[in-house]
Amino acid sequence: MFGLGLRLLVLLKNTAIYGAKFVKKRIIVALDFDTPSKALNFLDHLDPDLCRVKIGKELFTAGGPDLVSSVVNKNFDVFLDLKFHDIPNTVAGAVQVASELGVWMLNVHIAGGSAMMKAAKEALSNSHGRPPILIGVTVLTSLSKEDLFEVGVNKDLAEHVMNLASLAYNSGLDGVVCSADEAKLLRASFFRDFKLITPGIRRAQDSAGDQKRVISPSEAIRNGSDFLVVGRPITRADSPRDALVEFNSEIETL
Ligand code: C5P
Repeated sequence: MFGLGLRLLVLLKNTAIYGAKFVKKRIIVALDFDTPSKALNFLDHLDPDLCRVKIGKELFTAGGPDLVSSVVNKNFDVFLDLKFHDIPNTVAGAVQVASELGVWMLNVHIAGGSAMMKAAKEALSNSHGRPPILIGVTVLTSLSKEDLFEVGVNKDLAEHVMNLASLAYNSGLDGVVCSADEAKLLRASFFRDFKLITPGIRRAQDSAGDQKRVISPSEAIRNGSDFLVVGRPITRADSPRDALVEFNSEIETL
């Protein structure tokens, strides 16, 4: 009974009523800007009830924690994409400080090992209020089989991703960042509440840019992804607001 109540609360937190519609906030808009003012001006075009946002290394380096707080204060759920990877004590401290900024989700590199991931999870358990979702980075999608071989990994890529995701799961992480292909594989192997976050999303009319493999929003959701990270198709659209509405409507019935 308590479990059902908790699930209902989470569903309500993840869903906004917009007009007569329920909008599940599954699009995470990547704020890949080089100054805080560009990011904050851009956010005037977006409604925090219709999407979440991602702050990565570029914007964080430019704007720091003050910028994160400003975005949180505009009522956006913030995914702080800093991909922490260090000794357990250092990562535990970093995620705790990030949690105090009020971020919704943050991430670490799974390659940092189970002790590091457990220390991060443990640090978040001391958060005031609801702790941020903690996810792991498996293999950067920019790395080829040859790149991995150079750093001593000579396994099949899918097997390597699966091993890393299992390590994250067993270390108590809440999910992983993965490509849409990997999402299909991982969704078949993990419980539904293990979150899959997928970048490289494009509608039919969008250019791929530098992404090597892209997938449509509906296909990514069908593959089992929970959240889709979308950058340029929204940030560089003539009307970011309209682009976001289109992304949401493509997946609203899925
Ligand atoms: O503009 P675009 O939609 O390609 O942006 C995708 C976002 O997702 C960027 O912030 C990029 O850094 C991030 N990302 C990615 N591929 C990964 C991990 C993160 O594109 N494997």
